[in-house]
Amino acid sequence: MRAIEITEPGGPEVLEWHEVPDPEVGRGDVLIDVTASAVNRADVLQRQGFYDPPPGTSPYPGLEASGVVAEVGADVEQFKPGDAVCALLGGGGYAERVAVPWQQVMPVPDRVSPREAAGLPEVACTVWSNVFMIGRLRKGETLLVHGGASGIGTFAVQLAKALGSHVVATVGSAEKAERVKELGADEVINYREESFADKVRADVILDIMGAKYLAGNVKALRTGGRLVIIGLQGGRKAELDLGAMLAKRASVHATGLRSRPVEEKGVIVRSVVDNVWPLVGAGAVRPVVHAEVPMADAAQAHRLLDSGEHVGKILLVR
Ligand SMILES: NC(=O)c1ccc[n+]([C@@H]2O[C@H](COP(=O)([O-])OP(=O)(O)OC[C@H]3O[C@@H](n4cnc5c(N)ncnc54)[C@H](OP(=O)(O)O)[C@@H]3O)[C@@H](O)[C@H]2O)c1
Repeated sequence: MRAIEITEPGGPEVLEWHEVPDPEVGRGDVLIDVTASAVNRADVLQRQGFYDPPPGTSPYPGLEASGVVAEVGADVEQFKPGDAVCALLGGGGYAERVAVPWQQVMPVPDRVSPREAAGLPEVACTVWSNVFMIGRLRKGETLLVHGGASGIGTFAVQLAKALGSHVVATVGSAEKAERVKELGADEVINYREESFADKVRADVILDIMGAKYLAGNVKALRTGGRLVIIGLQGGRKAELDLGAMLAKRASVHATGLRSRPVEEKGVIVRSVVDNVWPLVGAGAVRPVVHAEVPMADAAQAHRLLDSGEHVGKILLVR
């Protein structure tokens, strides 16, 4: 098969489409003929040499893919050749074929094209597990989503609205603010012009900035609030005001999805299929696709992500 190899740590130009060995299919694996994959910020870190794939996973980038089941391992009863699926991957999505534990495989939801499905597993599993399973966001509560126009943000805004929350999002431009309002956000704050910490009081905060926003996030939490940090774009070390946390009876969580064991990913994936796929199938939550780029030209897709102009997901299609 062919796959995108990272020839050395560096810029988008190090992503090259090469002939590589086919993946091995383990007893519990599903082999997928890939229709499309999607770009995540973590792929950029992997390309730059800052984020090695977890042991035992594919060396090629790509945390999600959609396609058709080509083969299943001896122990797999849940899927069969010919099924249209999408999957949460530890790596290897930027390829013609990928093998993945069956626990991480999902059917393609109704109303979603086979290509669009490639951009759903990572955002759906991340948002559902962090905002709802860990953050326990309830109907009527307020969610603050940082980076509302990101792949993660566009999904979080829609899902929280569909489940009855008041949603506030931060963005970096007026144009992105309009797009995020169209997705259902009740309030959008341009972080270049206003301080979110002075304006919002939230029950749950989905944060991607880490250190830079820690003090502001703690200030913005309501009593009993839950801060869930999933990105460190603003640094990893900062001082946490435990007095403020204690007074608010608040909690802070920091989680990563990629390194979780297969069994834990499986629990999240099944919960997504049960709770999120029906909302996608009903059209209440839609994939937001910024662009489709040929997979062999993954470098171009990374340049687009690096530019920061995108809203939603950038797909890599075959
Ligand atoms: N822990 C996990 O399991 C997990 C899983 C998936 C993703 N993530 C993380 O989630 C984040 C989003 O991922 P993605 O793939 O959706 O990336 P993405 O589409 O490239 O989004 C990055 C976003 O960061 C926003 N941003 C930059 N500076 C900001 C600031 N000062 N305040 C608020 N927003 C700011 C940008 O918004 P503007 O252009 O509007 O500034 C952009 O929308 C990344 O940090 C990624 O590592 C974590």
